[in-house]
Amino acid sequence: MNTKGIILAGGSGTRLYPMTAVFSKQLQPVYDKPMIYYPLAILMLAGIRDILIISTAEDTPNYKKLLGDGSNWGINLNYVIQSKPGGIAEAFIYGEEFIGNSQVLLILGDNIFYGKLDFLRNALGQNKGGTIFGYSINNPSSYGVVEFDDAGNVLSIEEKPKQPKSNYAIPGLYIFTNDVVAIAKNIERSPRGELEITDVQKEYLKMNMLKVELIGRGIAWLDTGTPESMMEASTFIHAIEKRQGHKIACLEEIALEMGFITKEQYIATVNQLPNCSYKDYCLGVVG
Ligand code: DAU
Repeated sequence: MNTKGIILAGGSGTRLYPMTAVFSKQLQPVYDKPMIYYPLAILMLAGIRDILIISTAEDTPNYKKLLGDGSNWGINLNYVIQSKPGGIAEAFIYGEEFIGNSQVLLILGDNIFYGKLDFLRNALGQNKGGTIFGYSINNPSSYGVVEFDDAGNVLSIEEKPKQPKSNYAIPGLYIFTNDVVAIAKNIERSPRGELEITDVQKEYLKMNMLKVELIGRGIAWLDTGTPESMMEASTFIHAIEKRQGHKIACLEEIALEMGFITKEQYIATVNQLPNCSYKDYCLGVVG
């Protein structure tokens, strides 16, 4: 089934003030790239070429300046403005026209994943209604949390529970068929005035159409919610890049690897980059 991708990159970013006083959170650096490069890389590595970026009116021009129409990377980037941060599930309402008849993979612009992405490619191929993921962490109380019985059936899904019923947080990576648009339109706003992504998940659960795939320890899922966790994410990316000599989320390299652009297009794109270590790396990829 054709899959379209959405990156939700709006929000108020208040938790990272004063860093976010001028630029939105997802434009902040994570080691050597703007944060949004990492979720965009995940969509590209999943084989998705039609991508919608949803952000605020103030920040959308900056995303356009940074990423353009995607043609340098052989992808189509579209932009829609979310007038105010009314909840993650609003992404499907703002994205209605873009989603059309396709299934959709929504990734939050502040979620960073690293590792072999077979779990995601398999899930995209097998999804019948909704597929979400469970990832075991120390204290999941600042996330959506999913609870299972011994047979692996989902017992509950809760948004930021004070006393989590399991250690499985739900990362910001969600696959839904296009009926998610109608579902998002029908759920009620939560007490904090948002259309909650966990309420969408619960609707799929009620219909018996929700699959929860556990992501194993071989995948790193990194948080960027606080200055400290951003620093940790930067340190993680730096350590791996330095050790391996390969960049994580180099969009030019991914486009070439995925066959989205030819070697000639790659070289033309890289030649346009200003002189910097990122360009030197890109040149080295085909050198
Ligand atoms: O990171 C995974 C978690 O993301 C999930 O486990 C939770 O179920 C989910 O609610 C979400 O929790 P957060 O506390 O991270 O949500 P937050 O409100 O911070 O929004 C996540 C990102 O989405 C953030 O970078 C801003 C963006 N956003 C958020 C809202 C509410 C928007 O672009 N528009 C919005 O209306």
